[in-house]
Amino acid sequence: MDVQQVLEGLEAWRLSVLTSLFVMATLILMAVEHSLKDRTILVTGGAVRIGRSIVLALANAGADIVVHARRSRAEADALVALLRQQNRRAWRVTGDLAAPAGPADVFSAAIHAAGRLDGLVNNASIFARKPLAQCTQADFDAAWQINALAPMLLTRLLAEHVAQRSGKSSVPVAGVVNLLDQRIAHASVGCMPYLVSKQALAAFTQSAAAELAPGLTVNAVAPGAVLLPVGSEGREPAGVAPLGRHATPEQVAAAVVFLLANPAITGQILYVDGGQHLGGAQ
Ligand SMILES: NC(=O)c1ccc[n+]([C@@H]2O[C@H](COP(=O)([O-])OP(=O)(O)OC[C@H]3O[C@@H](n4cnc5c(N)ncnc54)[C@H](OP(=O)(O)O)[C@@H]3O)[C@@H](O)[C@H]2O)c1
Repeated sequence: MDVQQVLEGLEAWRLSVLTSLFVMATLILMAVEHSLKDRTILVTGGAVRIGRSIVLALANAGADIVVHARRSRAEADALVALLRQQNRRAWRVTGDLAAPAGPADVFSAAIHAAGRLDGLVNNASIFARKPLAQCTQADFDAAWQINALAPMLLTRLLAEHVAQRSGKSSVPVAGVVNLLDQRIAHASVGCMPYLVSKQALAAFTQSAAAELAPGLTVNAVAPGAVLLPVGSEGREPAGVAPLGRHATPEQVAAAVVFLLANPAITGQILYVDGGQHLGGAQ
């Protein structure tokens, strides 16, 4: 074998390795992009801010989306139009989750629009910074209804929907992700109604995961300071992140996709907070 033949052999080998790597990379990319293919997911408060990032990430992973909005209807419509341009099926539903029949109405509207649901992201929330001494019963009621009760009722409705659809199944056929807050991990001052409502939802996440298996996975994502509350723009995000950076909306959204795409994970609370929950930050 002369030098020329050796070089040609090496070139052929190099090309076949590169081709294999390219095929593998494409397959991995397709698996990530389509990890939620054929799943229809309701995202509450999905029109703006972190909810919008979650909607876009779920759609990018192949899901069809029901975008719930209360006031941000124009933003929801624009988002639905964007998803449809990307060849996803998408719908907008509206409703006040604090109203007594709010969660049931939103759920029915989503089923009416999409025909079925395979996932739920309980993202809608209210937050108020107020010392405990100034908190009223109305503050506690509102936080409880929107941040805790509505996610619980929507989860129960999804469990019923899935049970009717599929009977008993040994494989989770639908998933729920609740948006919590890293504050649940330690003492936190100045937002008691919000804090205890999210702590209730954390407790619900773990017990509902046990009670609703095997039909449903129930998990949570607990962000740190990601976006300042509406109206307080210009301030610094609260708290210190040991990693030296706060999470972005896209990083929170990636965690939601991860949890919904993995049928072996349930009852988990995933902190996406730059390590903020470790340091006792407010
Ligand atoms: N922002 C952060 O840095 C941060 C930090 C930790 C945890 N989180 C959690 O991550 C999630 C998203 O955060 P975010 O800051 O993007 O949320 P947000 O802006 O405070 O609220 C999200 C949406 O909730 C909807 N909503 C509020 N009250 C409602 C009601 N009565 N009925 C129906 N919908 C209602 C609103 O929808 P409309 O606009 O359509 O009215 C609002 O846009 C929340 O669960 C939050 O607790 C956020």
